[in-house]
Amino acid sequence: MARIVGGIGTSHVPAVGAAIDNGRQDEPYWAPYFDKIGPARALASELAPDVAIVVYNDHASAFSLELIPTFALGVAAEFPPADEGYGPRAVPPAIGHPDLAWHLAESLILDEFDLTIVNEMAVDHGCTVPLSVAFGQPEAWPCRVIPLCVNVIQYPPPTGHRCLALGRAIRRAVDAYPGDERVMIFGTGGMSHQLQGERAGLVNLDFDREFLDRLVTDPEGQAAVDHTTYLREAGSEGIELVMWLVMRGALDAEVEERYRMHHVPTSNTSNGLIVLTDAADSV
Ligand code: DHB
Ligand code: FE
Repeated sequence: MARIVGGIGTSHVPAVGAAIDNGRQDEPYWAPYFDKIGPARALASELAPDVAIVVYNDHASAFSLELIPTFALGVAAEFPPADEGYGPRAVPPAIGHPDLAWHLAESLILDEFDLTIVNEMAVDHGCTVPLSVAFGQPEAWPCRVIPLCVNVIQYPPPTGHRCLALGRAIRRAVDAYPGDERVMIFGTGGMSHQLQGERAGLVNLDFDREFLDRLVTDPEGQAAVDHTTYLREAGSEGIELVMWLVMRGALDAEVEERYRMHHVPTSNTSNGLIVLTDAADSV
């Protein structure tokens, strides 16, 4: 059977993608950040996923305010990088896994998660930057990619509880898939950041640290945190963090924290990265 081999939580700051694409990783601003992501890349390589389920939010690239799916699952054979206004990133297309994606769609919808099914979609920095963080700059991504979009752009986003429950349903679906795929799940976005208005540039390191601690040891407690608290404490875009709860839900109750880092500044965002595996896999 297919199985979840690990989970990665990472910010998806577009400037990180631009730094990689333009060869700026060694510059004084970026080197401290890129030094810290090396161990996560080593773990991603060690865990050797065949498929990455990337839980991310589209930033008005594939969807606009005309159409706002709460959860949208990509079942296509290929997802090209989106043009976000300065040309598509020079990264490989994400090659999908239609068979597993359709299995997820069936399993999740019969499990009463009303997903939108997406047959054609370009993927923006929300998806491509986490792939770059985990895998660097290969000619082709080392695994298939199943994008799963979550609306955190237009109020109301789904609750933390709903995201955690979706992750658990993804776990059930993967466990029931009759293949031998090794599946890694990404929760992306965050950490604290606000891109607009009077509080633009807001960073709350205490909130971020507590979020990571509770993500690991008390996901139920973190899932109970309401939207207003994210908005107040982590800024208007800090709500992206609910997507990390989808990743957490796909792992066992007991996890091993394999790596954590936290770095400021990267653009306006507090940049976090965590790698988790099931504790049962460590024994
Ligand atoms: C930034 C962060 C984001 O999550 C995003 O979607 C866009 C920009 C930033 O920090 O610049
Ligand atoms: Fe974002």
